[in-house]
Amino acid sequence: MEKREMLYEGKAKRVYATENPEILLVDYKDDATAFNGLKKGSIAGKGAINNRVTNFMMRLLEQKGVPTHYVEELSERETLVKKVQIVPLEVIIRNISAGSFAKHYGVEEGIVFDAPTIEFSYKNDELGDPLLNEYHALALKLATKEEIDTIKRYAFKVNEVMKEFFKGIGVDLVDFKLEFGRLSDGTIVLADEISPDTCRFWDSVTHEKLDKDRFRRDLGNVEGAYQEMMRRILGE
Ligand code: TMP
Repeated sequence: MEKREMLYEGKAKRVYATENPEILLVDYKDDATAFNGLKKGSIAGKGAINNRVTNFMMRLLEQKGVPTHYVEELSERETLVKKVQIVPLEVIIRNISAGSFAKHYGVEEGIVFDAPTIEFSYKNDELGDPLLNEYHALALKLATKEEIDTIKRYAFKVNEVMKEFFKGIGVDLVDFKLEFGRLSDGTIVLADEISPDTCRFWDSVTHEKLDKDRFRRDLGNVEGAYQEMMRRILGE
């Protein structure tokens, strides 16, 4: 498949057209940002790691019955995906308190919940991705009721599959962010990425952070954490 013009450049990826109007090419960058782009940097090797980790997770989820946009890994950093219209909602699932949950509700990090939580934010950088609920999403016509129900069902299924998988490699899945898209016929599929940029991973035994919080909070050894997650996930 031929890499044609760049259609979009985001904070962590570039998206290119191909000769097939239904297929796009995603190219992962090493660039890293946090706090809505206020903190900028680069994590050596991140693009290749996030590409390979995302594709591994997308293939696993497809096998377990969650439809995704994944088509084919082309190279270290490049992947073909189905073209979707992104639903402008960031869907966040949490199993353990951390990050903005701990901050908003004034609790420590590390409280294991009896049941996972779900929350949505409006994917809008200018507004700083504000939190909203389903009624707000409907009022803003970001998605239909049916789409939101499908997204919630898939998001909890993704959590079950991923929690089980990560347990097997000695990692607690603390929380993560998903994005969904609509294929041209309206079908909802999982899109974007699933990587140490978009999940919190804690070593099950030492509770060491193995994700982008090392960059956000200047904890050091950011590259080492990404490499360790890739090694465990891909079994290399
Ligand atoms: P939070 O605790 O900061 O709300 O983050 C929850 C999860 O979502 C965490 O795993 C990191 C991920 N996340 C993103 O993927 N993109 C973002 O822009 C933010 C703020 C969080």
